[in-house]
Amino acid sequence: MKHVAPILVALLLSPFCALHADGADSPREHVSLDGNWKFHLGDDWPNALSLTKGGTSSGPAAEKFDTVLWRSVNLPHDWAVELPFDEKSDKNHGFKPVGPAYPQNDVGWYQREFEIPAADAGKRIYLQFDGIYRDARVFVNGWQMIHHESGYSPFRIDITDIVHYGGINAVAVKVDASAFEGWFYEGAGIYRHVWLDKTAPVAIAPDGIFVTSHFEGNGLSIPKGAAAVTASVTVTNTGTNSVSISVSGSVAAASGGESIPLSSKKGEIAAGEAKTFVLTGSVPKPRLWSPETPSLYLLSNILSVDGKVTDRLKTAFGIRTVAFDKDRGFLLNGKPCPLYGTCNHQDHAGVGAALPDALQEFRIQKLREFSNAYRTSHNPPTPELLDACDSLGMIVMDENRLLGSSDQNLDLLRCLILRDRNHPSVCIWSLCNEEHRQSEEEAGRIGLTMQRLVKKLDPTRPVTAAENIGDVDTGLMGALEVRGWNYQGAKAIDSYRAKHPDQPHVGSEDASYQTTRGEYVTDKEKGFVDSYDGRGNTPESWWGGLFATRPWLSGGFVWTGFDYRGEPTPYGWPCVSSHFGIIDTCGFPKDNWWYYRAWWGKKPVLHLAPHWNWPGKEGQEIRVDALANCHEVELFLNGTSLGKKEVKPDSKMSWKVKYAPGTLSAKGYDATGKVVSETKVETTDAPAALRLEPWKTTLQASDAAAAVVNVSAVDDGGRIVPTAMEKISFKVTGPARILGVGNGNPSCHEPDQFLGTTEVRTTPVIGWKGQEMDLPAKPTDRHKSYVPILQKFIAKLDDSSWSAFAEDGKPLISAGKPGVCSTVITLSPQDLKSPVLLTQTGFQGTHVFLNGSPIEDHLTSGSQPAPLGDLVSLPDVWTYHLPSNLLHAGENKIQIVVESGATHPKTSLEFLGDYTQPDWSRSLFNGLAQVIVQPTGEPGEITLTATAAGLTSATTTIRKEPASPPPGTP
Ligand code: GAL
Repeated sequence: MKHVAPILVALLLSPFCALHADGADSPREHVSLDGNWKFHLGDDWPNALSLTKGGTSSGPAAEKFDTVLWRSVNLPHDWAVELPFDEKSDKNHGFKPVGPAYPQNDVGWYQREFEIPAADAGKRIYLQFDGIYRDARVFVNGWQMIHHESGYSPFRIDITDIVHYGGINAVAVKVDASAFEGWFYEGAGIYRHVWLDKTAPVAIAPDGIFVTSHFEGNGLSIPKGAAAVTASVTVTNTGTNSVSISVSGSVAAASGGESIPLSSKKGEIAAGEAKTFVLTGSVPKPRLWSPETPSLYLLSNILSVDGKVTDRLKTAFGIRTVAFDKDRGFLLNGKPCPLYGTCNHQDHAGVGAALPDALQEFRIQKLREFSNAYRTSHNPPTPELLDACDSLGMIVMDENRLLGSSDQNLDLLRCLILRDRNHPSVCIWSLCNEEHRQSEEEAGRIGLTMQRLVKKLDPTRPVTAAENIGDVDTGLMGALEVRGWNYQGAKAIDSYRAKHPDQPHVGSEDASYQTTRGEYVTDKEKGFVDSYDGRGNTPESWWGGLFATRPWLSGGFVWTGFDYRGEPTPYGWPCVSSHFGIIDTCGFPKDNWWYYRAWWGKKPVLHLAPHWNWPGKEGQEIRVDALANCHEVELFLNGTSLGKKEVKPDSKMSWKVKYAPGTLSAKGYDATGKVVSETKVETTDAPAALRLEPWKTTLQASDAAAAVVNVSAVDDGGRIVPTAMEKISFKVTGPARILGVGNGNPSCHEPDQFLGTTEVRTTPVIGWKGQEMDLPAKPTDRHKSYVPILQKFIAKLDDSSWSAFAEDGKPLISAGKPGVCSTVITLSPQDLKSPVLLTQTGFQGTHVFLNGSPIEDHLTSGSQPAPLGDLVSLPDVWTYHLPSNLLHAGENKIQIVVESGATHPKTSLEFLGDYTQPDWSRSLFNGLAQVIVQPTGEPGEITLTATAAGLTSATTTIRKEPASPPPGTP
């Protein structure tokens, strides 16, 4: 479900927010805050949170904090993926040095500013965080707003009371990724979007719309006639008076067309209360949502108070019925629809857990090439993933993270259901996965409590859990509407079904079959599993041997669609990624892909494995497998037939072939002997050139857009060389940056991301003079500052006769003595264009003044560790940011008051210059690699160039379109 706000307003400081204004009569705004964050890795402010008085947080959590030394980042951001691999760290989390053993990498601070215009006074203002991994504390203007632990659940904070209207506001987020929630790669940081939302005081409540459609027959029969549409709209009144409201709604196909009005409602809402209004209507001849026809509708709601519009909201939804039948399995629109599904974690090659929206679409499209269902194992997904599933026709099992019925657990479950219940792709809820106490009586009671909550919030979809226990009645197993099966054999399943004849079933997880793309020999040292037989439940055994013959199981979900980071079963180091995928971490198909295309799809499939580049193996037998869904397959080597084999349903064929370079080809025949499919693999020559193939050549100029560019090495004949492992360098020109690189090699330790550097120009500050002298007395009241007293004092000083400092001479101020030092720095207009820092060592107990004004805060000091990953790491020095409003071109005076010497000044100016793009590179793995490129938002042409020693380089151009409003925006 996508809520489409009628006003999307560009916000000062955010270069990437979508720009669209409509419905000037509604104050609702939905603004991206993904751009322009500053980031610091390390828990350098452990006491930032103040528990003594409200709004008094310190360090980066304070209202004002100088982040000039922090890195600039845009969201989504995952700092774990930036870190190098480390053999000592957790293998299930992909050997990235975060988690319990790595305190230095566990805490990340984010900060950014945002402006709230004075005209917003009177509106409700919220910050919406779609997902932070994990344990986040959010501070706004020095107030701690929330402590939110879940790494997967979104949260929203109401900041209306504490924002500065007509001023700049600061939001800081402390993220603590020291604990794990799962046993797979989870990332670290603000890895989903952040939004600033504004509404009138009387507005449609957050997640306040639930739209459903109904036909006769409870989903068990094919829907006929018109769809009855019901929209419940919850309205909140956060104002101080009771109000009379009216709410109306209409429905239209998202692709355009007639708008069908729903009944409208009127009512009174007392101050501080919320009320739900139910609007009804009917859509004649609805276009039903299904994987083949993912038709969407838009519900438009208008809210008025005393006749004046105060809110407008559009909600995407679909019209379809779902049911799980004990005999017929999953029914979509009344017809059996086997779930040809995959389970997936949320990370992708190169970017870890921080996926630009376009990558969600890319991944779902890749999975739609062979499957129709997606399980969000084992956590609530990002909303953009569900948007992609809605529009690309992917059925979703939407999964909650943990079994539990405490209020806190139920709040997380409630949040998931309320957020996702309008998505037509979501067809079933899963409460949890393979809970260790799933068969205990308590688990049954907990499951029922959770199921009751789900049904209250969404009576339209069934509830299951992914259970890895066989013919057992206790606990969760018999408690939930639909019995979910993880990894159980026919005996256990059939026997359980005999005892529970009325319970429907779903194959929630199976296979866990491991292969490495393009590898045909198992090699433990390298961490590769051969692609012939693999390891685990083969597709033939779990699907062919079990699910294909039991339609009442509703189909099932393979572990997994994509390879993912972590869980490198059956190995450990050097393997850092899993091997379970039907496609690798980049989405490149493994041989299995054709199995599922053949038996889950309708199109003719004929595939041969392995590749045919085996120099040195001439005359030796090589096993050749064919995957096909026709009647017979005939194999040929260099034109000579090697015989026909009959295709058995849900299985593959094998030949032993004496290797000779050339062409291995195959023909597929139907039962009448007609050729219905052909394929070939050829021995290639050595790599001669690189090839770049962008997934899309035209992108929107928004932060959500990204180009996925596949890289390969080809021979002189343009054939991809399936064994090429060359190291490729990448350069992007134009308004874009590279987000990440990958190649699908589960044992590759090359960096996924390369961090750029900020140029720092350093000039020594010389010419120091000094004079020992008594300083004015400190104020007796310890709450009073000494600084104004010193400021007055130094203003009167004349330094013309002070002694000059010589490196080899005596200290300017002697040990233990007070005094004042001064010098003059000369700056050019160019110098003033970038932040200027003053760094100093050698002064003791100091107060710095620039052109007579105090510089009170230092950014780093000798007592702090060098911050890892920051722009400038300067241990043992004191660093001051010289504010640009106090500096001018020409001479500027610096005075330093020393409370007690000895003083051997060593000072310099640091000019922070331009950000320099790093050099990016990645090796091919069995011929392929991938680069993810993201436009920055400015106009201009983007080119990506790939080069490698001895190969002709390749360049691709990516065009950008102006950012357009999200689909469905009026
Ligand atoms: C399952 C589990 C998955 C994954 C898989 C690996 O039991 O649900 O998360 O760990 O095993 O085989």
